[in-house]
Amino acid sequence: TWTASLQSYIIFVYLSLSLQVKKYLKPFLLSQEKLQEISARLKKNMIQGLGKHTHHKAPVKMLPTFVRATPDGTEKGDFLALDLGGTNFRVLYVRVMEEEQKVLKMDSQICAIPQDIMRGTGEQLFDHIAACLADFLDSQNLKGQTLPLGFTFSFPCEQIEIDKSILIHWTKGFSCSEVEGKDVVKLLRDAIHRRADYDIGSVAMVNDTVGTMMSCGYKDQSCEIGMIIGTGTNACYMEEMKNVKRVEGEDGRMCINTEWGGFGDDGSLEDIQTQFDVVVDKTSINPGIHIFEKMISGMYLGEIVRLLLVKLTEDKLLFKGKTSEALLTPGRFETRFISEIEEQDRGLKNCQNILTELGLKWDSVDVRLVRLVCDTVSIRSAHLCAAALATIVNRIRENRGLDYLKTTVGVDGTVYRKHPNFSDKLQAMVHRLAPNCSITFLVSEDGSGKGAAMVTAVAQRQALSHLL
Ligand code: GLC
Repeated sequence: TWTASLQSYIIFVYLSLSLQVKKYLKPFLLSQEKLQEISARLKKNMIQGLGKHTHHKAPVKMLPTFVRATPDGTEKGDFLALDLGGTNFRVLYVRVMEEEQKVLKMDSQICAIPQDIMRGTGEQLFDHIAACLADFLDSQNLKGQTLPLGFTFSFPCEQIEIDKSILIHWTKGFSCSEVEGKDVVKLLRDAIHRRADYDIGSVAMVNDTVGTMMSCGYKDQSCEIGMIIGTGTNACYMEEMKNVKRVEGEDGRMCINTEWGGFGDDGSLEDIQTQFDVVVDKTSINPGIHIFEKMISGMYLGEIVRLLLVKLTEDKLLFKGKTSEALLTPGRFETRFISEIEEQDRGLKNCQNILTELGLKWDSVDVRLVRLVCDTVSIRSAHLCAAALATIVNRIRENRGLDYLKTTVGVDGTVYRKHPNFSDKLQAMVHRLAPNCSITFLVSEDGSGKGAAMVTAVAQRQALSHLL
């Protein structure tokens, strides 16, 4: 009974404090109507991005990818794949098998990209990449061959052809000089030629969203959307060529890399940006760029939570008003903590350990309040993604003049994969925002590796069929 009354006391204190904390969290709660409004705004931005004369000032870039078809099962061959833009840089050797409709990863290697290279010169970056590739080819005894290569480069690029792709601007943690405005395939080839100890065959440039769509497309031919919610967030989908005004031709479809992370870069999301989002943007290495992404993706969620915790502590609602050096340090509250804290069974225990590690003196009410903060920030992220995804599925349905659309989304990214209930929240909200669509979510198996090889294989198949 003593513990019972202590427990009810804790609940009482929690409830009264959480009422005050909720005032700070209110701006993070987006009603279904608000999400619908945001989806309508994004729809307008997407049309603007596709238009020939409106594209140049569109915040959502809607980039043509020159991927015109999803796999048909006849692709085959051996490929190299490079993957740059997520948490790590990877090199892969991949075999696409026609008979069994399978993509096999023969081997792969991860290379770290040190911070100084992420922020150094472009030449250093590409020399580093070429050196990693050389190591890998050596270890696989592949240096004598010139294999075709799929290059997953997960940044906004103006693609001129499948093997010519110009970086518009860096996003996420990169800022190498002398790369923006340049053809990334050429920078890679130049770096390889500078070494002169091996060569590569034809190259296909791929955004990670496209790789994700293509790797699922191999299993499920109705997969025509790829979505990433990881370090960054973005999606691609198959758009009707007649709507892709910046590319010649009216027939068939082309995959469009939406770069939805840039939504809001013209100020259109100011009504939902909280004071914490504004700080996250201002203190980032690319202020004003990728506003939507900064409210959603793994690179930023932890920091939003940290800023909220600092504010709540300063206003004496947490930790008896005492912050810690760690809590005051940008980047110290990692996004993976959010997932750990929200775990169903071990969440509160995890939260205690994390707060202790951050040098904070907590009590059981603090622990619950911190969990409430994490919940609120991650639900907003899931709901914003849902609004954006609903915009795409509704568009595909309208494009095809269908009353009801059944489709599949290939998904990848640490936030989607690792967070305990992110995918549930996202799916439930998409369902409400796109009631006339039934969506299957397929977590992609290594989209940026195998998917990139797939794109290269499809490109080869198409090039061959044009010759015949
Ligand atoms: C960023 C990049 C985009 C990528 C996404 C997910 O938004 O600009 O190209 O797809 O991150 O990695």
